[in-house]
Amino acid sequence: MTPTAVNQQSIQRAAELLHQGKLVAIPTETVYGLGADASNPEAVVKIFKAKGRPSDHPLIVHLAYAAQIQDWAERVPNSAQLLAREFWPGPLTMILPKKPWVPPVVTGGQDTVALRVPDNPVALWLLRVFGGGIAAPSANRFGRISPTLAEHVAEELGDTVDCILDGGPCLVGLESTIIDLTDSQPTILRPGRITRSQLEAVLQVPVALKSQHKIRAPGMLASHYAPNTPAFLCAADSLQTQLEKRQVQGERVGVLFFSPELAGLHGTDQRHLPEQTEAYEAALYSALRELDQLKLDSILVEQPPELEEWQAVIDRLSKATT
Ligand code: TXA
Ligand code: MG
Repeated sequence: MTPTAVNQQSIQRAAELLHQGKLVAIPTETVYGLGADASNPEAVVKIFKAKGRPSDHPLIVHLAYAAQIQDWAERVPNSAQLLAREFWPGPLTMILPKKPWVPPVVTGGQDTVALRVPDNPVALWLLRVFGGGIAAPSANRFGRISPTLAEHVAEELGDTVDCILDGGPCLVGLESTIIDLTDSQPTILRPGRITRSQLEAVLQVPVALKSQHKIRAPGMLASHYAPNTPAFLCAADSLQTQLEKRQVQGERVGVLFFSPELAGLHGTDQRHLPEQTEAYEAALYSALRELDQLKLDSILVEQPPELEEWQAVIDRLSKATT
């Protein structure tokens, strides 16, 4: 399955495939999603098979309009209205109590549902033509790096999807921020581009950050987002030493860095990522994939600063590295 160019015909066809219970890979602003009709349990089951994902891991339902949350959520608290108004379409997923009709296979058997209006013209076009909710996890095999290009989906899931819509590179590049609005205190389950401070500024209440150890969202499994090549986080000032130590042992080492002063490392396969957080996020997964494909012995990843704006990157890197 090669990626399909986006036009009126391919969108129409993708919507028909979804209505027929087939799988369609769709671009979003965060990462590519592996989509199925969220109201069709048999279609949704195919997602789990294609990804090799455990069936108790819930999916995000993508919607065209914020007003559609009424169809999926039993109660829509004021906090959800506020966040939708501020951040949708955008990289924010809200966990809300589900309507009784929502298929348990979508929610991993939980009584809550994850909802998001993505900020990508292709995704929104398809969602509008399709009309319903599209359940879509990231379009990668379970535990692997999320795809940020249509080609990534084709490489990894090409034989199991019925259509891959080519929307070009994902502009955000990291999975959405997930906020749980079902408890008395709003809680971030997965950090993303939309930060805790931004959420607190809108909600005017403190927002908790779920400890990384409790596994409720599969993005929180330690093995998640991992390349095949062993990867290690490394502070900039010890990276050179680490690199030499490994090279002396005969290792072929890849380096993923952003500090300009590391640009002079020689004898390595390296990817120089932007220093600016948003540009770094957009480039990270592609770079990791490229290094992974070189079948090196190890990858050294420069440790980003412990600042709020880097929280999502730190979260993903700590899961991708050992
Ligand atoms: O940016 C994104 O969120 C991308 C694009 C495609 O929208 N999707 C994505 O899906 O990252 P996935 O399946 O890889 O991650 C969805 C996360 C999982 O960690 C899942 O556990 C969590 O959402 N989730 C879904 N429903 C949930 C629920 N009812 N309660 C708690 N977590 C939930
Ligand atoms: Mg995922």
